[in-house]
Amino acid sequence: MEITYTWYGHATHGLKVGEHKLLIDPFFTNNPSAPIKAEETEADFILISHGHGDHLGDTIGIAKRTGALCITNFEIANWLAEKGLEAHGQQIGGGFHHPFGYLKLTQALHGSVLPDGTYGGNPAGFLLTTPNKKKIYFAGDTGLFGDMSLIGDEGIDLALLPIGDNYTMGPDDALKAVKLLRAKTVVPVHYNTWELIAQDALAWKERVEAETTTKVYVLKPGESLTL
Ligand code: NI
Ligand code: MN
Repeated sequence: MEITYTWYGHATHGLKVGEHKLLIDPFFTNNPSAPIKAEETEADFILISHGHGDHLGDTIGIAKRTGALCITNFEIANWLAEKGLEAHGQQIGGGFHHPFGYLKLTQALHGSVLPDGTYGGNPAGFLLTTPNKKKIYFAGDTGLFGDMSLIGDEGIDLALLPIGDNYTMGPDDALKAVKLLRAKTVVPVHYNTWELIAQDALAWKERVEAETTTKVYVLKPGESLTL
C-alpha cells in the first residue's frame, strides 16, 4: 500500500493512503504559502485539528464540493453537521477504524474557538495507524508536552511538527519533541507563512540530525514524501 504525504504550506497536509484521499487542516484561501487553490483539491476525508481559521480553513467549501467526511472533535463535528456536512466526532484518546486506518485524537496544548466565536472543544493532534501499520503523527498546533514520549512509544514513521514559535512550539521545543517522539522522519510545519512565525528550517534540520537519529525533510509547499 502506497502512502504519500504532501505539505501544502503552513499546517495544511494531504495524505493518500492507498485509494483514500485525505486533507488535514485544509487552509488554502488566504494562505500565502498554499501552492494550489481550494477548488483544485480532492478529498474523501477532511481532518480538522481545531477551530482556528488557519486550520478549519476551506473545510466547508471543499466538503460541500467533494462530499468528504469531516473528522474532528465532537464540538466541531456538531458545528459542521449543523451546516449540512457529513461529520464524525471523536475526542482526545479515542480512536476509530476509518477506511484509511485507525485514527486517534491526541492532546494538543492550544486553543480551538471557531471563527464565529462558537466553543470549539479541545484542540487535538492525530495519530494514524494505516492498514499496513505505518504510524503518522500530526501534532497539530501545540506546545511541547512530556507525554509525547508515550506517543513515541508507538513507533512513529512520520511526525509533522510545528516549529514556527509564537502560536506553537518553536525550534528549541520542537527539537525536544523530536527527542521524545523518536520518529523515523519528521517534517517541520507551521512556519514561514507570515513574518511572525518565520524560521530557518534548514538550520533546525541540522540541529535535529546532529543530536538525534531522526531524519528531517524540509519540504517546499506542494512537495511530497512517499512512505
Ligand atoms: Ni491554532
Ligand atoms: Mn495555527
